Amino acid sequence: MAAPPTDSFKDLQTNITETKAQSTTTNGNPQSRGPSPNRGASVPDNETKGDAYMSQKTWLSEQGIDKSKWVKLKKLSHMRYQHEDLNQITAFLRDFGMKVVKKTDTERWFGGYGPDQYVYYVREGPRKFLGGAFEVESHEELEKIVTTHKDRIQTNGIEEMSSAPGGGNLLTILDPEGFPLNFIHGQQPPPPKSMPDKLIVNDESTKPRQRQFQRFRPGPAAVHKLGHFGLVSDQFPTLKEWYTQNFNIVPSDMLYVEQPDGTRKEVAMFAHLDRGQDLVDHHTIFLSTLTPDSSIPEPHVHHCSFEVHDFDTQALGHQWLAEKGYRNVWGVGRHILGSQVFDYWWDTSKFMVEHYADGDLVNEDTVIGYEPAEHEGLAVWGPDVPAEFLH
Ligand SMILES: [Fe+2]
Repeated sequence: MAAPPTDSFKDLQTNITETKAQSTTTNGNPQSRGPSPNRGASVPDNETKGDAYMSQKTWLSEQGIDKSKWVKLKKLSHMRYQHEDLNQITAFLRDFGMKVVKKTDTERWFGGYGPDQYVYYVREGPRKFLGGAFEVESHEELEKIVTTHKDRIQTNGIEEMSSAPGGGNLLTILDPEGFPLNFIHGQQPPPPKSMPDKLIVNDESTKPRQRQFQRFRPGPAAVHKLGHFGLVSDQFPTLKEWYTQNFNIVPSDMLYVEQPDGTRKEVAMFAHLDRGQDLVDHHTIFLSTLTPDSSIPEPHVHHCSFEVHDFDTQALGHQWLAEKGYRNVWGVGRHILGSQVFDYWWDTSKFMVEHYADGDLVNEDTVIGYEPAEHEGLAVWGPDVPAEFLH
């Protein structure tokens, strides 16, 4: 499994080491030469892996996964939550950059400007996580779930979503931890929506923006689509196995903790949807281990994350939410795994939601990385990670 990093990434790693070495001499005095400046590069996926990685093909075979048994997920569609106060969560989600697509007395559907009818569904009731919703490839896939997971079904079989925008069918099951998991099919696509303008950016050598000035208007960061959600469980190995055996969910990165006997215990998985050669988000779902120092002692949803246009959009959205008095958790910063520029907030029911921009894309040829689960590995820049993020 272990292999050395390839040359181009080694170059970036070497520079970090060199910087440390150059900053002091053997007698501990500072050298006259300054440290190397920071660097950034868009590095090919398989050249970014650290001390250990594995091809997806090898991993699938080692896990004994039979792809023909998979229920084929096409994409992540929307999140489902129950909130006590519909008006309060509506005000928050509007300030977060979503629009009300439809409302009834007890339900609301919130949309972005992306390919989905809605990205967030709310039902009135006591605070509750109702699960992420994946769109499956065909109606037969819904039937396959009914047959394979009949003891886990929560809906009245495959239900028609007669009041939801775009209609379609819904099936909800419980995973082995008891987290709801939703599947939809047959939803009509929404009419095309307008996309934000792309900024033209000048750098030191290329200056395509000529006699054009950068101007912005304050406001929420408009949400494009749902990107991922994460679950914290005390049965990580069981969930990892269940999700990867039953669905086309494959790790992009696996995090481990080194045990006293030198073995590595896997504690978290960032996973993408296997769509073959098609490019997909680095992670659509992540699973992690509930730790004894977690502020929430039971298994829980960690956060869900929505894509926004670019860095300026995100920074303006951050300012907007801050000015409205909402509570920031962590951000703005840039993740290492997945590369996203992130910004985490508490909603009005204290569920965590994230804005992200500039995430990585992978496919079946991207190797799976194995990294130590360390807080320093969470971000390349940004504020210090707060304890409440690691809940
Ligand atoms: Fe995230």
